[in-house]
Amino acid sequence: MLKYFCYTAFLTFFISVFYNYSYFDYIKKYIYYNKNNSKKLFSPEELRSYNGEIKQEIYLALLGNVFDVTKGAQHYGSGQTYNVFVGRDASRNFIDGKFNDEDISDDIIGLDDKELLSLDKWLKFYKKEYKKVGLLIGKHYDDNGSLTQYGKEVRSLIKKAYKAQGIEDALKKKYPPCNIEYDAIKGSRVWCSNRSGGIERDWIGVPRQFYETGSQSYRCACISKEDLNLGNIKEYENCQLNSISCYLGNV
Ligand code: HEM
Repeated sequence: MLKYFCYTAFLTFFISVFYNYSYFDYIKKYIYYNKNNSKKLFSPEELRSYNGEIKQEIYLALLGNVFDVTKGAQHYGSGQTYNVFVGRDASRNFIDGKFNDEDISDDIIGLDDKELLSLDKWLKFYKKEYKKVGLLIGKHYDDNGSLTQYGKEVRSLIKKAYKAQGIEDALKKKYPPCNIEYDAIKGSRVWCSNRSGGIERDWIGVPRQFYETGSQSYRCACISKEDLNLGNIKEYENCQLNSISCYLGNV
């Protein structure tokens, strides 16, 4: 019994020293990266060689995540449209669509919420369609494979963008956009139906000017009976109060 206890104590001691000792940092990294399915850390120079020529494989990075896109050589191979993304992180160009060498950038600060969400969609696309093979040391990850301050900031901006989109979607559901058409003689007409604004519902609502909080401008929204007295809702001139359709004249 005592023998077992001693063995266990010794083993525990040995493992904790082994695991914490700095010489074994690379083993910890190996365990960490396998656990996170991020097998390798790439320097920018190393990643450049994965272009289908110096190395046979074709890799690209997005938000610091490296993917093997060799199976998509018809898009990424030498001379193909999206070869510009290969061997580097060109995250910004996934959004601005600039494919010249001098425009390539991994800097995405300044993108608006919609653009950030679009970038995150690309990330999801690569995670689904291709194999992630590692992380790129640079803007997003340091040489331990941990997120840099920049990387954390970007992830927090993406999170905020999802939150803002959630709020926007909820507002759109509660106050659906009107249908709008323009006729050269009769002018603009706005109207509501039980699917206007792409929001299917069991009520129709009436067209009103809807001011979002803190905004001076309005959009046309279909407002339900219960919400007609809210402070941020105004009637259109020359439109009957209960009409589901209003001509606005030549505006
Ligand atoms: C910001 C602009 C754009 C970016 C960043 C972009 C990026 C990409 C990427 C990365 C692929 C390869 C996807 C894969 O690995 O399967 C792709 C494919 C493709 N893109 Fe674009 N693209 C852009 C604009 C456009 C435009 C404007 C068109 C059409 C006029 C277009 C048409 C296509 C087509 C047809 C494919 C091939 C789809 C397939 O074979 O499955 N792209 N795009």
